[in-house]
Amino acid sequence: MVNRSLHDQFNRPLQDLRISVTDRCNFRCRYCMPEEIFGHDYMFLSKKEILSFEEIERLVSLMASFGVKKVRITGGEPLMRKDLSKLIFSLKKIDGIRDVALTTNGSLLRKHAQALKEAGLERINVSLDTLDNEVFHRLNSRSYSVEDVLEGIELAAALDIQVKVNMVVQKGVNEQDIVPMARYFRNTPHILRFIEFMDVGNHNGWNLERVVSKKEIIRIIDEKFPLEPVKSNYYGEVASRYRYKEGGGEIGVISSVTDSFCSSCTRARLSADGHLYMCLFAVKGHDLRTLLRSGADDEEMIKEIGEIWRNRHDRYSDERLLQTDRDKRAKIEMSYIGG
Ligand code: GTP
Ligand code: 5AD
Ligand code: SF4
Ligand code: SF4
Repeated sequence: MVNRSLHDQFNRPLQDLRISVTDRCNFRCRYCMPEEIFGHDYMFLSKKEILSFEEIERLVSLMASFGVKKVRITGGEPLMRKDLSKLIFSLKKIDGIRDVALTTNGSLLRKHAQALKEAGLERINVSLDTLDNEVFHRLNSRSYSVEDVLEGIELAAALDIQVKVNMVVQKGVNEQDIVPMARYFRNTPHILRFIEFMDVGNHNGWNLERVVSKKEIIRIIDEKFPLEPVKSNYYGEVASRYRYKEGGGEIGVISSVTDSFCSSCTRARLSADGHLYMCLFAVKGHDLRTLLRSGADDEEMIKEIGEIWRNRHDRYSDERLLQTDRDKRAKIEMSYIGG
């Protein structure tokens, strides 16, 4: 396989691609798709605007030739995309792609776990911010229960799919759930990751006072279950790892706000309608769909993608707290760009 390794303006290699396969979701988490904005008359993408599986496969093959090894399927809620397992099956066969993983809210996992396993999926990250159904409903404005998600996790794990759990922590909302979540997932094979609440999109009411910092999260857990840091698994790993000193596994903390990790960010993001974004907090993407659908050959596509990454200089989280125009930037919504 040709490998044209590609570096951006800060010498960061292109290694991962996060693909949003739909901008729709069956949840309305307040920090991502608040009901009042994403309610009944919200204009979601139409079927013909969304990339087909064949189009996604072609883009991933081209990206693999630049050294992309890791692909993560996101949304919206990716399990709402029909026949998602078929896409996973084809992506796994692409030369150079070593890791295909999925990030999901877990509500539909029970239904789809078997098909995902058969498609060859080995890793799933499931979002779960609380074990308390009252808080859960308040957070996602829907009637699924915590048990639906936990059963999905257990079924996936029983099928030998590795599961990580993502908990977004918000001050005054679910910080009281940090210790119960740690206790619940300690001594299980599932790694629990605590995520600092981020200012994604334009509607989630973010401010710094609502962030529980990495330092604070570690202090709260360490008081009950002493922790010690562990080295990263690989260059550019998003979560900082800690292990329970007295045994019981490890946790992760994703600290984009108080301890950002842009200097090793190797991730590009592809929206469901085929725009390539260089940062989770980008304002503008690069329209690859028009190029694809205009009949561009591989050489033209490669030239375009190469130029986009070479010119990349995004480092939003490193600069977040210095930016005076932060609230005025019309950022891309997370449900569209894919976490
Ligand atoms: P692993 O491959 O299992 O380590 O997955 P991951 O942690 O990269 O992906 P996941 O979808 O589980 O994301 C966990 C959290 O990290 C989410 O809140 C993402 O929005 C956040 N995240 C992932 N990549 C980035 C990034 O490049 N920048 C920022 N700021 N946050 C990110
Ligand atoms: N801050 C931090 N993480 C978020 N996620 C969604 N919105 C936010 C936010 N505002 C998480 C989801 C999911 C992952 C893709 O991103 O909970 O686990
Ligand atoms: Fe919640 Fe994820 Fe759906 Fe956003 S995409 S509303 S974070 S479940
Ligand atoms: Fe990468 Fe942007 Fe996240 Fe920084 S803020 S780590 S550049 S996606």
